[in-house]
Amino acid sequence: MGILSGKRGIIFGALDENSIAWKVALEAKKEGAIFTLSNAPVALRLGTINELATLCQSVVIPADATNTDDLDKLFDQSIAELGGKIDFILHSIGMSPNVRKEKPYTNLNYDFYLKSLDISALSLHKILQVAYQKDAINEYGSVVALSYIAAQRAFPFYGDMAEAKAALESIARNFGYHYGIKNKVRINTVSQSPTATTAGSGVKGFDKFFKFADQISPLGNASAEDCAKYCVSLFSDFTRMVTMQNLFHDGGFSNTGISMNIMEKFEEI
Ligand SMILES: NC(=O)c1ccc[n+]([C@@H]2O[C@H](COP(=O)([O-])OP(=O)(O)OC[C@H]3O[C@@H](n4cnc5c(N)ncnc54)[C@H](O)[C@@H]3O)[C@@H](O)[C@H]2O)c1
Repeated sequence: MGILSGKRGIIFGALDENSIAWKVALEAKKEGAIFTLSNAPVALRLGTINELATLCQSVVIPADATNTDDLDKLFDQSIAELGGKIDFILHSIGMSPNVRKEKPYTNLNYDFYLKSLDISALSLHKILQVAYQKDAINEYGSVVALSYIAAQRAFPFYGDMAEAKAALESIARNFGYHYGIKNKVRINTVSQSPTATTAGSGVKGFDKFFKFADQISPLGNASAEDCAKYCVSLFSDFTRMVTMQNLFHDGGFSNTGISMNIMEKFEEI
């Protein structure tokens, strides 16, 4: 018996085997959950999600997470396929056209900016609002969205995704209040270390920053596999009273000022 035994979920955002959502799906399967997998129609064509579906014996249901009609159908199909209401949801969705096109923060394209916010932040609100209005999530259900510390501090290379993550964390807090009152549904964000995925590596200077964060953090960077375990613990009944939180999963990066490792690099200067 795994810790998610008997639980039904929806996992958004597995593109390929590097995706954090891919690792979460494998871990959730190992812990006994059943779930559907969802991604944008274009990602289904470009990625390898069908391989994951075979591994997890899951059905893939396309949905653009910014489109509430798609989300409405996704919930109906997931509930029919899994045989009951949903117990957990992973929101592992992020994309910024400004970051992709290497637009500096001081020269953003505002149509792109709105798209970044819609895909990376409002999509969480849309998923929750559709679920809330359909009463699609069971009591003590758990929703986890992935965030990054640029929501709290300036990271010059992260562009408009910084605002997207700040909005995402705020949506988790505020919807966490309303859904908690209505149905004891829990909503949290996990603020993850830099991780080598399609979205992560798309950020300019990623390799250098990955190494820097690894040397600052007392435990080193948290891997996608470790992140998956943490998300699964948040879906489980072991964390039933955790809600409306932004939880750092970063090997200690967020509470470290400077490390001896980095200090030593400046010794000869
Ligand atoms: N990789 C990192 O360094 C890192 C660090 C902290 C947080 N995160 C966050 O983790 C989450 C997952 O990213 P990842 O690193 O696994 O990269 P990834 O590129 O594998 O996943 C991003 C996913 O978002 C999906 N997506 C984009 N537009 C969509 C839309 N309109 N509808 C539905 N899905 C859409 C993509 O298809 C893709 O599957 C993101 O929120 C990201 O910001 C990543």
